[in-house]
Amino acid sequence: MQENVLIAPSILAADFARLADEARVVEGAADWLHVDVMDYHFVPNLTIGLPVVQSLRKATTLPFDCHLMIADPARWATGYAEAGAYNVTFHAEAATDPVAIAKDLRAAGSRAGLAIDRDTPVEGYLDVLPHFDLLLIMTIKAGFGGQQFLPHLLDKVRAARQHADAGHLELRIEVDGGVAEDTIAACAEAGADTFVAGTAVYGADDPAAAVRKLRATAAAASAQTG
Ligand code: DX5
Ligand code: ZN
Repeated sequence: MQENVLIAPSILAADFARLADEARVVEGAADWLHVDVMDYHFVPNLTIGLPVVQSLRKATTLPFDCHLMIADPARWATGYAEAGAYNVTFHAEAATDPVAIAKDLRAAGSRAGLAIDRDTPVEGYLDVLPHFDLLLIMTIKAGFGGQQFLPHLLDKVRAARQHADAGHLELRIEVDGGVAEDTIAACAEAGADTFVAGTAVYGADDPAAAVRKLRATAAAASAQTG
């Protein structure tokens, strides 16, 4: 189903001095804008935080898919929902009570996403998925863009897809890390329907065209899998 595929370019790979322009470049081609928030604690990298998200929110019509790679999401996550993010995803590894945070996010007006990093098995989180709108399966170790895609992590996507379908959950399954023209079909075949791409979009000469191509490749692969 083509309309089921969502492409979310990651501004981590964009020019941070021109974020508004970089967001607008993919308007009309992308579904969401993926915003990677890193705090130098949960991950060793540092990117942007709430003030930048608040300003950027006014500069584009694209829905924001905020990916919080931060410690203590119970304290910080709802601020992003209040800033107008469409979806706010926080990491399972950083949360003591993921369901409580999901409830807070929904009450604050956004969708709730749960992210699973490279070394975390998904099985322990299957039970909480009814409280979430999105499950993000990292296909790299969270923290940096431009890393090599790790295909064995798609086993987690398969397990989550099976669980979501069996339970009739309304859950998006998103992959993040090394998603590109040569890896997106495998992600779609494994059951992902939402695709983050940083380098593959902003590293391309024509980012909007790169988004359209990724969408076509993913749609073809998911149509084949049925
Ligand atoms: C990394 C971020 C990703 C990153 C992906 O921890 O979560 O969203 O931007 O970048 P690429 O697509 O270049 O792997
Ligand atoms: Zn991300």
